[in-house]
Amino acid sequence: MLVNIPDILTRDEVAEVRALIDSGTWVDGNETSGAQAAKAKRNAQLADGCETARKAGNFILDRLQTNPVFISAALPLKVYPPLFNRYAGGQAFANHVDNAIRPVRGQDFRIRTDLSATLFLAEPEDYDGGELVIDDTYGTHSVKQPAGSMVLYPSTSLHRVLPVTRGARVASFFWIQSMVRDIGQRELLYDLDRSIQTIHAGDAAHPSLVALTGIYHNLVRRWADV
Ligand code: NI
Repeated sequence: MLVNIPDILTRDEVAEVRALIDSGTWVDGNETSGAQAAKAKRNAQLADGCETARKAGNFILDRLQTNPVFISAALPLKVYPPLFNRYAGGQAFANHVDNAIRPVRGQDFRIRTDLSATLFLAEPEDYDGGELVIDDTYGTHSVKQPAGSMVLYPSTSLHRVLPVTRGARVASFFWIQSMVRDIGQRELLYDLDRSIQTIHAGDAAHPSLVALTGIYHNLVRRWADV
């Protein structure tokens, strides 16, 4: 399941994050890659763990914490400190699956990658190519969102970034360990929560709402590890 989440950042917030990261130190993207990914990946990345990346990353994490769609779809236990990449001049990232476990360099922090996230930080009209192409059991999906919007997808998916042939594609990317490890259970909870929200929007006093909300929480209690 792919979930597109619009407006994680407003236009002004995108500009703020871009001003911060554009003035940072960019390095070869392969600094964070495993041996196999290093052959597939050609891009630049904001220096891992630098003050600029930390500041911009925390800004994004703050916005995520209050985004109801993100919380409902990911049921996050741990979120990896956001990283930033830039593709230009034909750069691309060939087909790969993200590493299952991600440590943070120099810290006692590691996560199991259940969900991968890309938050777009450049407007689609400012570059050609650069689509994030994701294969899942329902087929192949090509994603190119407005700046400030984010796509969440299962980290088990094979995916790639197509060559950027004009302009620059700038994005933040990171991973989430969910409280609910099983993708089928997580998707059911997301569908149930969305249905409850729809009923609530139509009739906040609907007599079944309390029972349905109870079922949602009791399923979370049954399936979540915290
Ligand atoms: Ni990837």
